Amino acid sequence: MLEVVEKLKSEFEAKLAQSKTHEEIEAMRIAYLGKKGAVTDVLKDLKNMDAEAKKQVGQQINALKDEIEEKLRLQAKKMEEIKFQMAMENAEKFDFSIPSCQEVGSLHPVTIVQRQIENIFKSMGFIIEDGLEIQTEYNNFEAVNIPKHHPARDMQDTYYLSNGQLLKTHTSAAQNAIMRKYGAPKPGEPLRVLFPGRCFRNENIDASHENTFFQLEGMMIGDNISISNLIYFMKVLLSEVFERDVKVRLRPGFFPFVEPGFELDINCLICGGKGCPTCKQSGWLELLPCGMIHPNVLTMGGIDPDKYTGFAFGLGLTRLTMMKYGIKDIRVLNSGNLKALKQFK
Ligand code: DAH
Repeated sequence: MLEVVEKLKSEFEAKLAQSKTHEEIEAMRIAYLGKKGAVTDVLKDLKNMDAEAKKQVGQQINALKDEIEEKLRLQAKKMEEIKFQMAMENAEKFDFSIPSCQEVGSLHPVTIVQRQIENIFKSMGFIIEDGLEIQTEYNNFEAVNIPKHHPARDMQDTYYLSNGQLLKTHTSAAQNAIMRKYGAPKPGEPLRVLFPGRCFRNENIDASHENTFFQLEGMMIGDNISISNLIYFMKVLLSEVFERDVKVRLRPGFFPFVEPGFELDINCLICGGKGCPTCKQSGWLELLPCGMIHPNVLTMGGIDPDKYTGFAFGLGLTRLTMMKYGIKDIRVLNSGNLKALKQFK
């Protein structure tokens, strides 16, 4: 019987040396190790042998079985390597020194302004957060103190989804999740977060209205945050964006999630405050709604309003971009018109 095993082995070696394809290897696996394979036959035969023969032949045939498995595996691997090498040799040779792309891309004007503001705030210790575009009614409304049937809901024509969720109508929708994520601030380390994002409202589209636009919201919460902090940060923000010192003024404004709430106006950059068509002769441009975060909003975010205060602002990023670059028609921004969009630096 031992000779049979020897013969199988040499026969296998010879065939293996001849094999060139994966199909041939597979055929050999079946011929030797398959249910009716030559090695399997010997294994089945073991039970008819006497103890001594069983031991000897058993050892040999099992060793051969392992050897065949391993050699077939190695042969398949070797074939893959050869195939890969041949493919590489046949592949077209690229000349990387030839310039292929003559035109360099450009950033969207909203992205340019967004990054500029992010950099200013990052340098003042702010974290940048990314709010979801699909939100629950709770996050978009209830958590920012706009309960069901509140008239403020009608001011924001909302796109509802069939599952009851909605497309966020303002970046304020992320306030609650951010407060819960970071929790109450440590003494002397106010929570400072900036969260830009795309917002959606069911508006009729014209030169100054879009159903998709960008806002950029910010929040600072700590044990000693006041309106002066708010004014300081807003002034820094606007002076950096417009690259000059801007005059600002605060007027009372109502937003359910802040108390007190303000409209922050800047001195008209076109006429310097004398009055012109852009500022409707008032000398001021309404730009930045903001306020001190309402105690209800802090409470819903898990932050104790008796210990902490904070400010929030919701900048119309699309509007600011239009002002900065003198873009007269908002529709250009979502148009994908590269000729128009590429001119901004
Ligand atoms: N969420 C408001 C809106 O879209 C804008 C806003 C106003 C945000 C005042 C604020 C704020 O954080 O304090 O109309």
